[in-house]
Amino acid sequence: MKIGICPGSFDPVTLGHMDIITRGAALFDKLVVLVLVNPKKQPTFSANERCEMLKAAIAEQGCTNVQVDVYEGLLADYAREIGAAAIIKGLRAVSDYEYEFQMALTNKVLCPQVETIFLNTNAAYMYLSSSVVKQVASFGGDISRFVPKSVLPAITRRLLVTGNHKKEEEK
Ligand code: PNS
Repeated sequence: MKIGICPGSFDPVTLGHMDIITRGAALFDKLVVLVLVNPKKQPTFSANERCEMLKAAIAEQGCTNVQVDVYEGLLADYAREIGAAAIIKGLRAVSDYEYEFQMALTNKVLCPQVETIFLNTNAAYMYLSSSVVKQVASFGGDISRFVPKSVLPAITRRLLVTGNHKKEEEK
């Protein structure tokens, strides 16, 4: 069975992520969408919330060979543990490439049997990121064209109520 991993922070999931997930799922028997926990970062949504939102968005898409998992550690270790064939990453712009290239080379050293495959973003989502979603939502803007329908109420409610942008500014 060919297993792929689509790793990320997904804080929160966007339509750009879902585009990469659905296209990635078509390339493998099973795709694991992996929420990676970075203890040095303060995410807006907990790992559990990010997983639940991903599960809802994946169900909305009707992807049956995709599962969601969470991991605190090295992606290469997780890939080795589950016997993954490849890591799938989306590239939005050339500026993404330098960082992603470094990660791919590092992961290749740590786990040589796992390939990294880059998928070009769908042009419709080139501008989109979780940070853009958070900024627009925290000022009360419409994010319905940025995130899956199933997670829109949860994201809107949380970011508007907590006034997340204010917290960021105060830091
Ligand atoms: O969605 P993001 O924040 O761009 O995802 C980055 C992520 C989580 C995929 C990346 O930071 C990662 O792989 N973290 C796990 C730690 C690791 O394995 N690092 C690679 C060796 S430097």
